[in-house]
Amino acid sequence: MAPAFSSRDCIFVMTLFMFMLASSRADAVVTSTAVLISVDQSGNGDYTKIQDAIDAVPSNNKELVFISVKPGVYAEKILVPTDKPFITISGSKANGVIITWNDSGNIFESPTVTLLASDFVGRYLTIQNTFGSGAKAVALRVSGDKASFFGCRILSYQDTLLDDTGRHYYKNCYIEGAVDFIFGNAASLFERCHLHTLSEGDASITAQRRESPSENTGFSFLGCKITGIRTAMLGRPWGAYSRVIFAFTYMSNVILPQGWDDWGDLSKQSTVFYREYKCYGPGANSRKRVEWSGKLTDSEAEIFLTKNMIGGKSWIRSTPTRFKKASTVISNNSTKHG
Ligand SMILES: *[C@@H]1O[C@H](CO)[C@@H](O)[C@H](O)[C@H]1NC(C)=O
Ligand SMILES: *[C@@H]1O[C@H](CO)[C@@H](O)[C@H](O)[C@H]1NC(C)=O
Ligand SMILES: *[C@@H]1O[C@H](CO)[C@@H](O)[C@H](O)[C@H]1NC(C)=O
Repeated sequence: MAPAFSSRDCIFVMTLFMFMLASSRADAVVTSTAVLISVDQSGNGDYTKIQDAIDAVPSNNKELVFISVKPGVYAEKILVPTDKPFITISGSKANGVIITWNDSGNIFESPTVTLLASDFVGRYLTIQNTFGSGAKAVALRVSGDKASFFGCRILSYQDTLLDDTGRHYYKNCYIEGAVDFIFGNAASLFERCHLHTLSEGDASITAQRRESPSENTGFSFLGCKITGIRTAMLGRPWGAYSRVIFAFTYMSNVILPQGWDDWGDLSKQSTVFYREYKCYGPGANSRKRVEWSGKLTDSEAEIFLTKNMIGGKSWIRSTPTRFKKASTVISNNSTKHG
């Protein structure tokens, strides 16, 4: 039998979303008008490299900064440092902005894009690590709080998305990889995302790292779609108290009947929190699921699927509608490149 849903689990979920609700009120940032910086490889913008635009943002920035990137392949390794919050990097809906690099080995050193600042927004970006199979090769590391992503494509093979720490929201994103390709210890909601697994055996999509009952972290997938090339698992516990929920998610037949893996450690079977709710498709058949995973009941699921979950939207900011020129605000040095 699946273990009963404990009150502790319930408290986690409520804390997570109360957190999301509460956070919005604290922001003292000016949200009416964003500082606009343009990046264009052809030389018609303020900068030709995305990193140069980030470097132009002053330390301890308190304004919204909207970095608008023209389509192109940007072969850059990008860092948004801790002292530069409130940055948006935005491509266009056509997904024409590709940020690409090839690095591998260390999960903190290999990422193509590293986000340490809070209040980051990524829109319509393809972020990829082209290393391929054989070693850890992170495309995107998200370590800042209150980060959100819309219409992004995040691509690698092993350890694609290091969803490291903080609260994050991913909407309409496509995430591809083979091994543990969504991993880390953040508290994240993935809404209407497409997860595509390149696993050919029993590699896991997620490796969530919650390590103790006191941590308010976990991955929640809502209304997502899972496809792949062969067979895969939904998750395995990087941390003993790993927490992952799939709700209203389509699962193709790539998901193996047992669904979840204990990473070779029986003791984790009693500490993980792996749940499914109203998922569908050939991979969602629960008959042969490992008995230490389970289903959410309707009342339990309500926490994930109603206003409590939408509460995250209060810190998820909408696209600014008014802009001012970077040159008058950011620094009086803003030389045009190219
Ligand atoms: C990535 O770099 C490795 C060397 O570190 C090289 O062997 C490989 O061919 C590169 N892959 C691509 C797609 O550039
Ligand atoms: C540039 O900024 C510095 C420091 O804020 C200021 O003292 C200086 O007058 C500015 N120069 C111009 C040309 O605006
Ligand atoms: C402006 O440029 C000068 C010379 O390159 C540099 O020393 C100074 O730090 C810059 N100031 C700012 C505010 O970027």
